[in-house]
Amino acid sequence: MNILVSGADRGLGYGVTKLLLEQGHTVYAGKFLEAWRELDELKGIYGDKLQVVSLDVSDTDSVLQAKQIISHTIGYLDMIISNAGINGKSASEEPMRTNYEHMMHTYNVNSIGAVRLVENLIELMDRSEVKRLCFVSSEAGSITQAERKEMFSYCMSKAALNMYVKLIYNRLQDQGYSFRLYHPGWIRSYMSGHLSEEGYLSIEEAAELATDYFLSNDIDESKLILYGYDGEIFSY
Ligand SMILES: NC(=O)c1ccc[n+]([C@@H]2O[C@H](COP(=O)([O-])OP(=O)(O)OC[C@H]3O[C@@H](n4cnc5c(N)ncnc54)[C@H](OP(=O)(O)O)[C@@H]3O)[C@@H](O)[C@H]2O)c1
Repeated sequence: MNILVSGADRGLGYGVTKLLLEQGHTVYAGKFLEAWRELDELKGIYGDKLQVVSLDVSDTDSVLQAKQIISHTIGYLDMIISNAGINGKSASEEPMRTNYEHMMHTYNVNSIGAVRLVENLIELMDRSEVKRLCFVSSEAGSITQAERKEMFSYCMSKAALNMYVKLIYNRLQDQGYSFRLYHPGWIRSYMSGHLSEEGYLSIEEAAELATDYFLSNDIDESKLILYGYDGEIFSY
């Protein structure tokens, strides 16, 4: 399959990219961090099976440029994995004193970033017989199960993402599209800006669970669920 992964430089996106390549898929890996070299190392191993494309999901021109590159190479996508995300921490360090600029940026990446990817790249899925849209969300976006009293930007942005996915599910599910809305667990990733020592899952463990779920065909497609890495189903 031809698969696009956003936020693939490091963390979960990198782990998923690596596993997809190991399984023989062609991956368009969204590169956001110019100076981060892990994707280049993979390129040395996988050659043309890995296409590294600059991709800032907060920037429409960047998404359109990525689309051009895909159009001019392999020409179509079977699957989009919308993974890029930020924790919006600086927007919520001081609850009730939200930095609105940071909050808007968190929305722009975590919620509108997914909208940008789908709206601008979905045309590339016309030729695909798979047509799968995968979204890395979070339990933090579940409204009914929310217990936090802070992290406004992150939680709100993931709730908005969940709503978007539900709306496009309602719109596209009967047109041959399938959907995966996923909470990957607490990962020892780079969300805090450096490799975290806190979290239940290593990047490799989280990537294996996520990749299995994204690729699985053994799922009831007649409803949209927010599925957790350990099998828990969250209301959204
Ligand atoms: N880590 C967790 O415990 C956890 C829990 C639940 C859900 N999630 C979700 O899992 C996904 C992956 O997170 P992760 O834990 O792997 O974090 P990560 O290690 O920070 O990886 C996310 C990647 O996305 C990149 N990115 C940031 N802004 C971007 C943009 N505008 N366009 C494209 N890429 C961008 C990041 O770059 P920078 O490093 O420069 O920001 C980073 O390379 C996110 O959607 C996150 O919300 C994570």
